[in-house]
Amino acid sequence: MNHLVPIVGNTQWYSPTAAPDVLARHALATSAISSSHFPTTPSQPLTDGFARRLNYLRLSITDFCNFRCEYCLPNGYQGKPPQNELSVTEIATLVRGFAQVGTKKVRITGGEPSIRRDVVDIIKAIKQTQGIETVAMTSNGYKLGKHLADWKKAGLDQINISIDSFDAPTFHKMTGFDMLPQLLKDMDTLLETTDIKLKINSILMAETAFENLMSAIDYVKDRPVTYRFIEFMQTSDNRDLFFAQHAHSDIITDYLLKHGWQTLKRGSSDGPAIEYGHPDYQGRIGMIAPYAAHFCDSCNRLRVSSQGKVHLCLFDQGNYDIRKHLQQDDVAGLVNTLHSFMPIKPAHHQLHDSNSGIMHNLSLIGG
Ligand code: 5AD
Ligand code: SF4
Repeated sequence: MNHLVPIVGNTQWYSPTAAPDVLARHALATSAISSSHFPTTPSQPLTDGFARRLNYLRLSITDFCNFRCEYCLPNGYQGKPPQNELSVTEIATLVRGFAQVGTKKVRITGGEPSIRRDVVDIIKAIKQTQGIETVAMTSNGYKLGKHLADWKKAGLDQINISIDSFDAPTFHKMTGFDMLPQLLKDMDTLLETTDIKLKINSILMAETAFENLMSAIDYVKDRPVTYRFIEFMQTSDNRDLFFAQHAHSDIITDYLLKHGWQTLKRGSSDGPAIEYGHPDYQGRIGMIAPYAAHFCDSCNRLRVSSQGKVHLCLFDQGNYDIRKHLQQDDVAGLVNTLHSFMPIKPAHHQLHDSNSGIMHNLSLIGG
């Protein structure tokens, strides 16, 4: 499926927390390469071995989530909320390093990021970093109403809220929380009182797809919001549900194209969603189809977990510990380490082989 052609570069330092095949891949990358091919000056933008510019950081600030989405954490978060999450100071160092290598946008994810009491300080620290243009957050919306004004004041530019159904009992069943009416009210307050850009995420499942599409079309009629379906991705924790409910993106896009919706042109820094617009509708419908051919070709992102581990791909076989740099406020070391990852960022995920790597569910790193 992949048509990316690797470009070799040099590899310097990293501290892997990885499965043996990742270590082997890394060893291969280092041995095959001479440093003269790919000099790394610290402020050079991050470009991986397939000429993809990585200017987008997705930062998980906690694994913990209070929701129990049936495709992610059907039995809720297991164990105690983690104690050793990245501090605001460590996050500030991290983002300074990423900004130096060309990161323009940071998305705060979880778990559920708004569960952290210092989320406002985190938004502020990121927003104040020179070079960062956009601070976004992905949230289940649980705290939206209570904290919207503080998030806005701290500098939040965009928020993605998950609405897996517009039917209150179905939403309750899917997430474990009976709060759809409140959430819809809070989202309207956001639209009326702030200029925070709102997108809605929803998982594409066979059972709810059509009903969700009809409701979403209704919802975006007079609201400047993009409602995005995300194809259901298989992880080791959701196998049975995946086989029962996985649906192809065509079931949505065929309907849209037949009913006057048109594919919109994508900007170079746009994410992986293909968006559809209609002259009679203010908002848009989007589709994120990770199983589609060439989905990974335009990858522009790196992920960092709440424990300070870099995930080069959402579904990689391992991750890489960079916390040492964050604890020592070592931006230069971090920059070098980030460059050293470039030759080993995988070309694409292996979901087609039912291989989701170490990602047992998406609460670890937030989709
Ligand atoms: N497949 C697709 N999307 C998922 N999400 C969580 N798990 C999966 C999965 N297995 C989505 C949530 C949320 C976003 C953070 O990730 O619905 O919108
Ligand atoms: Fe649902 Fe997201 Fe929480 Fe998983 S992390 S249970 S998808 S709200």
